[in-house]
Amino acid sequence: MTASLTAVAYLGATILFILSLGGLSNPETSRRGNLYGIVGMTIAVIATVLGPRVSAAGIPWIVAAMVAGGAVGLYAARVVKMTQMPELVALMHSLVGLAACLVGFASYIDTSIAYTGAEKAIHEIEIYLGILIGAVTFSGSVIAFGKLSGKIGGRPVLLPGRHWINLAGLLAVIWYGRAFVHAPSIEAGMTPLIVMTVISLLFGIHMVMAIGGADMPVVVSMLNSYSGWAAAATGFMLSNDLLIVTGALVGSSGAILSYIMCRAMNRNFIAVIAGGFGTGEGAPAAKGGAQPAGEVAPVTAPETAELLREAKNVIIVPGYGMAVAQAQHTVYEITRHLREKGVNVRFGIHPVAGRMPGHMNVLLAEAKVPYDIVLEMDELNGDFPDTDVAMVIGANDIVNPAAQDDPSSPIAGMPVLEVWKAKTSIVMKRSMASGYAGVDNPLFYKDNNRMLFGDAKKMLDEVLVSLKA
Ligand code: TAP
Repeated sequence: MTASLTAVAYLGATILFILSLGGLSNPETSRRGNLYGIVGMTIAVIATVLGPRVSAAGIPWIVAAMVAGGAVGLYAARVVKMTQMPELVALMHSLVGLAACLVGFASYIDTSIAYTGAEKAIHEIEIYLGILIGAVTFSGSVIAFGKLSGKIGGRPVLLPGRHWINLAGLLAVIWYGRAFVHAPSIEAGMTPLIVMTVISLLFGIHMVMAIGGADMPVVVSMLNSYSGWAAAATGFMLSNDLLIVTGALVGSSGAILSYIMCRAMNRNFIAVIAGGFGTGEGAPAAKGGAQPAGEVAPVTAPETAELLREAKNVIIVPGYGMAVAQAQHTVYEITRHLREKGVNVRFGIHPVAGRMPGHMNVLLAEAKVPYDIVLEMDELNGDFPDTDVAMVIGANDIVNPAAQDDPSSPIAGMPVLEVWKAKTSIVMKRSMASGYAGVDNPLFYKDNNRMLFGDAKKMLDEVLVSLKA
């Protein structure tokens, strides 16, 4: 394939990637968006492998690597549960970071292209920055994987003077960067490069360890953004335009997602970027201020069915527990049954419900719930006072009134779905255990709240049977 044909293929792939992002912004067009992405990536891979920069001798290696990588990907896609997706995504981000580091070292020791003068300095700065971003992404993502999968505790690890440690690290990285660019030989440049890599790896670990469980959604999307910038840096090192564009698309869309997440959790975007998060207010498991007290009122599945049958307006609020129980199909069956009886059923989706952006939307789409009754938190939060039954399925933090009422709560200020304003709220969960942020929920003790204890799928099956009886 000639260089100009490769360039045309890259342009086509770039357009498809942009169309893909556009499609993914709406549930109705997301399948098409995915398809554009698949076609774009196929074109990109073929154009790169057959392009002018790969010699015939290299192709068997590439094919072998693709078969190995593809097999691992296929296996992971088949066995990973939906609830483990965030961990898988974090692990994949770490691989992008690792790749950026390896490409950086490889292109530094590769002498096949002789750079001189300003071009040499620019190439070396690209390598230095690429490895820096890659190393932070790699170690940060590995720690995020550990935290999301519960292998590392969710509590923030706050070293004394941690901002000073970060500042010292930054100054050291700048100092070694100068030494790297001025190094007289590759051997001499290797020492500052390795020292910077170690500092960046430690910085990535330190950054994510310092973040409390409640702030993890922001971290996941920020690492998504970092992995994009790491890929873009790799593109600069390899002079590959497509990698630069694709990396920038991932980097900027990840940054926008981080901004949306910050808004959803009432965190300051600038403070997050500057590393000002993970301080006390984000700490999980630290039970906030006034402890809720009182009795909870349990309810049975037939009683729940009765309440639903008598309702005119119902809002369902799904959360992480619905994903764990895989209850979305039964939820849809109940919705269909109630709608046929003339009940107005709608879904209220919190931006950080579940464990990944869009988690609930994906599950509800899989169960074929019509998109027009799936609404975002802001669209229906004002409707709870006119709602007869608010049914909370395996959600906890996103319906916690302490976020509004208790300034000392770790989730204070986070916008929540105001289910307690409905005539009756029913919370479906297995126990009185807290949610991801580790805080108690005063909703459970409110007079108009009922608790339906049990696995969400099992309880909803029983509710459906009672409804149909
Ligand atoms: P959570 O606050 O984590 O609450 C989920 C509840 O589901 C738990 O209290 C649990 O109670 C219940 N549950 C678990 N398995 C269940 C089952 N089989 N059947 C019924 N209930 C079950 O979830 P949420 O309300 O969706 O809030 C999301 C939280 O995750 C937020 O704190 C958010 O910041 C965080 N987070 C979000 C993301 C993104 S991007 N969405 C990423 C990382 C973290 P029991 O154990 O008593 O059953």
